[in-house]
Amino acid sequence: MKTTKILAIESSCDETAVAIVEDGNKILSSVVATQIDVHKEFGGVVPEVASRIHIENISMVLEKALKEAKLTVEDVDAIAVTQGPGLMGCLHVGVQAAKTLAWAYQKPLVPVHHISGHIYANNFITKLQYPLLALVVSGGHTELVYMKDEWQFEILGMTQDDAIGEAYDKVARVLKLPYPGGPQIDRLAKEGKPLYTLPKPKTEGEYDFSFSGLKSGVLQFIDRCHKKQETYTAADLACSFQETALQQIVENVCHALDVYQPKQLLVAGGVAANSRLRSLVLEDIAKKYEHIECIVPPLSYCTDNAAMIGAAGYVAYQHGQQADFSLTACPGIDL
Ligand code: KG4
Ligand code: ZN
Repeated sequence: MKTTKILAIESSCDETAVAIVEDGNKILSSVVATQIDVHKEFGGVVPEVASRIHIENISMVLEKALKEAKLTVEDVDAIAVTQGPGLMGCLHVGVQAAKTLAWAYQKPLVPVHHISGHIYANNFITKLQYPLLALVVSGGHTELVYMKDEWQFEILGMTQDDAIGEAYDKVARVLKLPYPGGPQIDRLAKEGKPLYTLPKPKTEGEYDFSFSGLKSGVLQFIDRCHKKQETYTAADLACSFQETALQQIVENVCHALDVYQPKQLLVAGGVAANSRLRSLVLEDIAKKYEHIECIVPPLSYCTDNAAMIGAAGYVAYQHGQQADFSLTACPGIDL
């Protein structure tokens, strides 16, 4: 039977990635060149530096992905690329590379929304069944997405201020932990207990999120301790922050599961790598909602990669989503 191979490119933030994916669920190759070590020195992603490194790396990453899959660009059916959201200069590099390949090899060009990629990364674990509820938690997004059917996205709720990954990174910075802070807080919280009371977020929408009050609460807590010359345990503070942040996530997810009764619950985005969130979803929520299949992608497909863009690109291609050479990067594009 004829298969469909998608060559996918992702460069929205600080990973330069190329993958080749067959039929949306089989990874023939997936190469990720991370820039974390460079940005660590600055305590966060420096957009100018990130786009320059993407330009330096993209050809090598492409070559490696083709070599690992033992394919040439001739062999693929379409070129998919992250069009947005993300950092403008970074997105441009991927989009320009994809346009060049599509033009040179006369292949269809398929623009992909970064978040649809995170959601469809779950397709590498199991066949997606609709309706489903997707919890998107990353450095730039915190959203509850309801998908009544394939390629239909309805945003039920989103963050009113910071994304959850952003809050993890900022709290890590005040605890003097290196970038990216999420995995550091994850590790440190395991050594602590949720002993400190931090502000519970208030939101307007039924399914909305808020993390900036919690983040400020952590800053104020540290300030107060310094002023009163009291000591605190960083591990307990990391654990208290994490429990408060994730409690909000779990409450909104459970509320949406009660109301929408989906067949599956998917978790998507970099924060899906968090060990506490994984156990809350795969153990607590899965036990409470036995009739709903709870899915979290393998660790390497939670953070940014191009295989997920290949998975979403395959569905987009099946739905006839194609762009011409006027395609441009869109840093703030809607799902
Ligand atoms: O999806 P992603 O790689 O990039 C964006 O699209 O934003 O997500 C990156 C975010 C960062 O904020 C990072 O700190 C967070 O995911 N992250 C984690 C963990 N691993 C990555 N947050 C909490 N616990 C983790 N284990
Ligand atoms: Zn991402």
